[in-house]
Amino acid sequence: MITSSALNHLVARKQNHNHVNEELFTPIIARLESIKQLTELEKVFKLNLPDGISLGHRPGQFVEVSSLGIGEAPISISSSPSRSNGSFEMCVRKVGDVTSALHNLEVGDTMGIRGPYGRGFPYEKFRGKDILFAPGGLGLAPLRSLINQVLDERALYGRVIILYGARNPSELLFKDELKEWGERDDVELHLTVDRGDESWTGHIGVITTLFPQISVYPRNTVAITVGPPVMYRFVLMELLGKGISEGNIWMSLERHMKCGVGKCGHCQINHIYACQSGPAFSYAEIKGLEEAL
Ligand SMILES: Cc1cc2nc3c(=O)[nH]c(=O)nc-3n(C[C@H](O)[C@H](O)[C@H](O)COP(=O)(O)OP(=O)(O)OC[C@H]3O[C@@H](n4cnc5c(N)ncnc54)[C@H](O)[C@@H]3O)c2cc1C
Ligand code: FES
Repeated sequence: MITSSALNHLVARKQNHNHVNEELFTPIIARLESIKQLTELEKVFKLNLPDGISLGHRPGQFVEVSSLGIGEAPISISSSPSRSNGSFEMCVRKVGDVTSALHNLEVGDTMGIRGPYGRGFPYEKFRGKDILFAPGGLGLAPLRSLINQVLDERALYGRVIILYGARNPSELLFKDELKEWGERDDVELHLTVDRGDESWTGHIGVITTLFPQISVYPRNTVAITVGPPVMYRFVLMELLGKGISEGNIWMSLERHMKCGVGKCGHCQINHIYACQSGPAFSYAEIKGLEEAL
């Protein structure tokens, strides 16, 4: 028989559990400070949280963004902590209901934010090393956070190499920043597009065709790649072929996510919840989970 004190304890635990869950799933309202159209499908949103509070994120983390009455979507934080100043940025590709609703917003409008979630990239461990960034397409959105963090503490790293590929010149993201990075003499930037146009005088080919252009000192190099799943397999082959160790190759896995906090199981890959253990993983951590790539 259950005693009344045990019953009270159970009720209290249940109420506490519900309270914790409610808090977990209650978004904070963020206000749009600016919107920039980057390409036909992508916009960058700069957001402020109430009372100027900081999001307190790490590069590679994401937030759950909600549009009232429509739903939520996980979106990476694209600005670096080193440049937060009470605001943060996200680059959103318009693909469906939530992202289209976000694209319809105007400066001054609001959206719900939960997070930041995930563990991000352990960039403190990358200090002292050469860093090879290999984003593809929209993968530059999350990697831009880490790239700018590294550039803002540039003296702490060795070489910085960026290999970036998009399907065509009009789909290259953050063109202003690409120009700035290309003009720095402490950044080695190599761009490519799968298909050129009349304005394009640069390299043509998928991102892996850039690898023969660079040489690396594998024992002192950390590589970080973020892009569409189809890209990972081939980029991984190139990175391993250059002798970079599995523990020094990092990537971000985009799973279908719902809760973002390890409760719903949507993002589960075998024993791993990508929303909590990732989405940033070293290859050594996820090797063997081939269906995730
Ligand atoms: C950790 C993480 C970080 C992400 N970062 C970004 C980002 O920085 N910028 C960005 O534009 N997008 C990002 N995405 C993808 C983004 O979450 C989806 O495009 C978004 O959820 C689609 O919602 P929707 O309602 O607009 O589209 P829907 O109407 O739900 O679906 C439209 C299309 O998007 C696909 N899709 C739906 N939900 C997801 C999902 N959770 N993950 C992947 N694909 C999905 C569907 O299969 C369908 O093809 C990220 C996803 C994850 C998991
Ligand atoms: S998104 Fe719900 S458990 Fe990861």
